[in-house]
Amino acid sequence: MVTNKTKICFSSHMIVLVLIFISKILVNASENTGGSDIPVVDLSKSKYEVAQNIRNVAKDFGFFYLINHNISQVLLSKVFNQSMSFFNLSELQKLSVKQRDGYFGYTPFEEEVLDKERQYNRGDTKEGYYVRGPFANKERRPLQWETLWIDEKIIPEFKATTLEYYYRLKQLSLRLTSLIALSLNLEENFFDNKFQNPLDVLRLLHYTSEPSNISSGIFGAGQHTDYGMFTILAVLDHVSGLQIYPPRLNRWIDVPRLENAFIVNLGDQLQRWTNDYYHSTLHRVVIANTSVQRYSVAFFWEPDFECLVSCVPTICNEQELPKYEPVMHGEHLLFKFSQGHTQLDLKTEL
Ligand SMILES: *[C@@H]1O[C@H](CO)[C@@H](O)[C@H](O)[C@H]1NC(C)=O
Ligand SMILES: *[C@@H]1O[C@H](CO)[C@@H](O)[C@H](O)[C@H]1NC(C)=O
Ligand SMILES: *[C@@H]1O[C@H](CO)[C@@H](O)[C@H](O)[C@H]1NC(C)=O
Ligand SMILES: *[C@@H]1O[C@H](CO)[C@@H](O)[C@H](O)[C@H]1NC(C)=O
Ligand SMILES: *[C@@H]1O[C@H](CO)[C@@H](O)[C@H](O)[C@H]1NC(C)=O
Repeated sequence: MVTNKTKICFSSHMIVLVLIFISKILVNASENTGGSDIPVVDLSKSKYEVAQNIRNVAKDFGFFYLINHNISQVLLSKVFNQSMSFFNLSELQKLSVKQRDGYFGYTPFEEEVLDKERQYNRGDTKEGYYVRGPFANKERRPLQWETLWIDEKIIPEFKATTLEYYYRLKQLSLRLTSLIALSLNLEENFFDNKFQNPLDVLRLLHYTSEPSNISSGIFGAGQHTDYGMFTILAVLDHVSGLQIYPPRLNRWIDVPRLENAFIVNLGDQLQRWTNDYYHSTLHRVVIANTSVQRYSVAFFWEPDFECLVSCVPTICNEQELPKYEPVMHGEHLLFKFSQGHTQLDLKTEL
């Protein structure tokens, strides 16, 4: 019996060593992405390899391409088709679903100012449309808003298509969340109770072809970090513009679109949960090509309003103390949201 047990222990130990060895090779391989500096995370690998991979890229980049994510390109092109149809409507039609307190909806050009310091006289040269499915609990709670949907007589497939995509991205986000837990040596379900009624939202974005001018403060999107756990971004065609400032490089680099890949970036709350071990990376959109217009779709994965974000137990202990006070996610989100969307009256939410 004793020898058997020893054998079992020995062989599982060997397997772990072999796995670590393989994952090292994979990580090295994945950092070469043909011209781009951004690493790739491949969801078709085993969950342990993916977790190790995430751990390796989360600190130095906070950004990665996600491949084999199981969301069909057919659905994605339908979403972009609906998005282009929406943004092609007249200003009057778009304003009929303009976002207001209590309702997600359309945000006109330059309504949002992500970086007040640098964007001193103009807002983001983009327009957007926040949409999401209904919240599970019906009573009116802060930031648990309804969506103002464009009339189906105007764009028949808009709601069905964007909602289908929204729910698929929710599924993908839950999967990514358990992989992130694993990457932190936590139980896979560690974050589950923090996403019971999450404040996630989908946002369609359209940028004008006006070139950005960094010295005069004109940006497609001003520099910022994202507010939640992570963001999953899809970009139409090869229209460049996204730039990030990874801690590993200390300079702005382009994030070109990679065929069939999402661009994932980690947000403020994941940085907080990990005591700065994982990085919420600054990014911005700088428009350079005036012959094309940039369309993208961002899915923001945000915990519950009441979720208290504090350092996870596998990172903080007697040796490593938390760098941050616990923060209630909804309060952080409301604060950030009101900073960017100054025209919204969020007083009733606070
Ligand atoms: C992939 O997507 C399909 C739905 O299209 C779903 O049934 C399946 O569970 C997904 N696979 C994984 C690994 O998430
Ligand atoms: C969306 O697809 C429909 C049907 O294929 C097409 O008629 C329409 O022009 C497309 N819209 C855009 C904005 O590409
Ligand atoms: C954009 O809208 C105009 C009418 O305002 C229409 O003629 C044109 O077909 C639309 N383009 C697309 C791609 O939907
Ligand atoms: C950017 O703005 C600066 C200062 O406002 C101006 O001097 C410069 O010509 C602009 N650059 C371009 C490419 O328009
Ligand atoms: C601008 O975009 C068009 C269309 O994708 C492309 O053909 C062209 O090469 C781009 N120009 C630059 C300077 O990147």
